[in-house]
Amino acid sequence: MIEVIRKKNKKKVAEEAAKIVLQEIKKKQNLVLGLATGRTMIPFYNALVKLKKNEKISFTNVRTFNLDEYVGLGEKDKKSFRHFMEEYFFSKVDLKKENINFLDGKTKNFKKECLRYENKIKKSGGIDLQILGIGRNRHIAFNEPGSSIKSRTRKVRLPEETRKVNFGSLKNAPKFALTVGISTILNSRKILLLAFGKEKKKAVQNSLQGKISSKMPASFLRLHKNVIFVVDETVMNN
Ligand code: GLP
Repeated sequence: MIEVIRKKNKKKVAEEAAKIVLQEIKKKQNLVLGLATGRTMIPFYNALVKLKKNEKISFTNVRTFNLDEYVGLGEKDKKSFRHFMEEYFFSKVDLKKENINFLDGKTKNFKKECLRYENKIKKSGGIDLQILGIGRNRHIAFNEPGSSIKSRTRKVRLPEETRKVNFGSLKNAPKFALTVGISTILNSRKILLLAFGKEKKKAVQNSLQGKISSKMPASFLRLHKNVIFVVDETVMNN
């Protein structure tokens, strides 16, 4: 069963999610935190940075693993997820550089890189809290429709739809990405998905009530025991 927390607007969604993250860090200072990118995450990181300052909580022992990265893009590329994270979050908190984990989009050996990431997650004790957004086509991370429930970290081809949504047009949009798998995500102890706005309404409602199937990767979250969706009223309205 997925617990759904309804909030008035995106600001409240972001604040609620930030509160939940800080509660977990209070319980476990060296929390292993799975992080996501995307427009949804911008108000969330803003809220987390603000709340962290007010509550004077330290991130020094927190370890992070991001979900995905575009193939061919590195830290310095403005379009990379690594760059996004630096801009909205990493540069604003006291995380230790060595505790930040990312898939290397510039690797020459995809298999080896994906295996390294899986092993690093395992070695850290597994993800305690995974933050997720959701794609309009129900993808989670870059597990697009058709992804298996058994999928682990791997290289994937991005559908045109996702490339267009993320980059505005297909021109200059990377064709491939590295992403953790559905199975990697379901291994997390707790999962927190954020969604707001009418573009996400169908995706969220289908994931909560539709058939559990690889056609809607987010529907697999219903098989996990500890999932919270924090959403706004637009998403839940009929
Ligand atoms: C991206 C990311 C996902 C994210 C999703 C939604 O492609 N790979 O992790 O959840 O798309 O993004 P947005 O929040 O911009 O709608």
